Amino acid sequence: MKRFCFKTIPVLILTPLCLLFLESCKPKTAQSAAGGDASKSYIAPGKYDEFYNVVSGGFNGQVAVYGIPSGRLFRIIPVFSQSPESGYGFSEETKPMLNTSHGFVPWDDQHHIALSQTRGEHDGRWVFANGNNTPRIARIDLHTFRTAEILEIPNSAGNHASPFITENSEYVLAATRFSVPLDDQNGDVPINTYKKNFKGSISFISIDAVSGEMNIAFQIRTPGVNFDLSRAGKGVSHGWFFVSCYNSEQANTLLEVNASAKDKDFIMAINWKKAEEYLKAGKAKKQAVRYAHNVYDEKTHSATSTIKTEVSVLDPADCPDMLYMIPCPKSPHGADVDPTGEYIVASGKLAATIPVFSFTKIQKAIADHAFDGEYDGIPVLKYEAALHGEVVKPGLGPLHTEFDGKGNAYTSMFVSSEIVKWNIKDLKVLDRVPTYYSIGHLSIPGGPTAKPHGKYVIAYNKITKDRYLPTGPELTQSAQLYDITGEKMKLLLDFPTTGEPHYAEAIPASMIMSKQKKIFKIEENMHPYAAKGEGQVKVERSGNQVHVRMTAIRSHLTPDNIEGVRVGDEVYFHVTNLEQDWDVPHGFAIKGANNAEILIMPGETQTLKWKADRSGIFPFYCTDFCSALHQEMQGYIRVSPAGSNVALLFSTGTNKPAVTTPDKTPADTSNK
Ligand code: CUA
Repeated sequence: MKRFCFKTIPVLILTPLCLLFLESCKPKTAQSAAGGDASKSYIAPGKYDEFYNVVSGGFNGQVAVYGIPSGRLFRIIPVFSQSPESGYGFSEETKPMLNTSHGFVPWDDQHHIALSQTRGEHDGRWVFANGNNTPRIARIDLHTFRTAEILEIPNSAGNHASPFITENSEYVLAATRFSVPLDDQNGDVPINTYKKNFKGSISFISIDAVSGEMNIAFQIRTPGVNFDLSRAGKGVSHGWFFVSCYNSEQANTLLEVNASAKDKDFIMAINWKKAEEYLKAGKAKKQAVRYAHNVYDEKTHSATSTIKTEVSVLDPADCPDMLYMIPCPKSPHGADVDPTGEYIVASGKLAATIPVFSFTKIQKAIADHAFDGEYDGIPVLKYEAALHGEVVKPGLGPLHTEFDGKGNAYTSMFVSSEIVKWNIKDLKVLDRVPTYYSIGHLSIPGGPTAKPHGKYVIAYNKITKDRYLPTGPELTQSAQLYDITGEKMKLLLDFPTTGEPHYAEAIPASMIMSKQKKIFKIEENMHPYAAKGEGQVKVERSGNQVHVRMTAIRSHLTPDNIEGVRVGDEVYFHVTNLEQDWDVPHGFAIKGANNAEILIMPGETQTLKWKADRSGIFPFYCTDFCSALHQEMQGYIRVSPAGSNVALLFSTGTNKPAVTTPDKTPADTSNK
């Protein structure tokens, strides 16, 4: 009975059966029944999760934060997409964050994240995130869980192979998915001149050790291939990057066939220490480009966008010993480096084995010139000379590999829907568990670092058909949490996810939770339109612009009566939240606004722009349930016809205008 119960019935059907036959069906170990381990993911009220799980949002352009092991969603951080929930990308202060050389781009496709590291370990400072579509890298500050900076990447199209971080956060790497004619070339060329005119670019973005500010230190110009994923070397392989590339055929149409013609593509090995030497020696050429650099200032509570016009480029032809190609079975996807830095795992999504390369062997092959010709001038290492070995019959469609720090690797198998655990040294498969269904990325806390925290592996699945309540034509994606503390992986929890998760990382809660910013100090508020107390409230006209310096505190807005606005005016509501208590935001919204609400944190000032398009009375109110009298937190603005001479007046708490400001426009000098 026990055998039948737990070896042959799919794990998840078991839960109700087990409840029915609790006595006879009790598993020897919790291993077989997911339900038996549900308590391991239950976080009782008053207790905290062990890990923050920072998860890419895919086509929602945002980053989500879940608790592990509970799977509870805590926050969606607006990054590349406007967020009507917070006003990000709608408020005047945050609009510049979404500026690019193409103008305002309010959406992106967010695939991978990278947590900052020091000495190969998580340091809990920043999250880097890529925008795939209009190439950008964002930096999120883990003190505020807010986007602090966005940098556009020139000479790139489809910023997929990014962001990948070095072990002291020296650089974040961003490699282009699509090769394209370079930004300073005439791109108006026939598409079938790909081989002649299309080039690849790999950007090295330096990270300021104190402020975290990003800067494109240099780019490497590469043959026109498609870059897919990457990892930095660490430990023994510090100073190197490994980037998977496909379409070495340089096809420009029907890639599903034409980019799989050759038996092998490549992992590109980049000696970035060498690249730094070439940069210092003046080998880089300056290229004229245009890209936006957007920075959010916590003191002014405002972002600025600067267009930069130059990038330094290293050409491999001038820089020998900087790049090498390692042959890899058909269309490699993940290129993952183990915690020691010695082993590089390449997952060929169409391959039947998982090749594992040895950094020591790669170095020896380079020293011995064990080359197999060149690819576009770059030496190609002999496959066998670089190879540690192959994992044989791991499963179907290997995509990504994470590590537990105990000598084991865990590879996601998209086609066979499973996670396969194997030993890095002897390459033997040790365990496999099903995922429901079609796993893409997977994440072990600290998995990409030199010291994984281990304990769990989380699967991010693409398909949930027959597992979740159906919701019309589109179903949710899901994540699954497995306990990996024992020899066998055990399914603990299954939870829906927001957006379409790609890569994720998890970091111990203890590294971040005590460092949270709780308020912005009102006395440090440098916003040019801040009202740091109700005495500083003002309404001023300048041409057809009306600037309202408003304050919010439980439970009123000051001013809450405004008159003298005219049709055609642009009204800027600069709302300062005077609260100095944790978690007391106030919101602001006004009827007919063509944007969204703004949600203002304690001590912060944010601005909503509103166009008075008709005369009448327009209510505004606080949108965040801030107190028992939240519903009373409201006001009115009176809009008069264009050319009217109703004076600009504002007040709170008096039934008549309390203060008047002399109006500078001649039409408005008189009033009743
Ligand atoms: Cu302030 Cu509701």
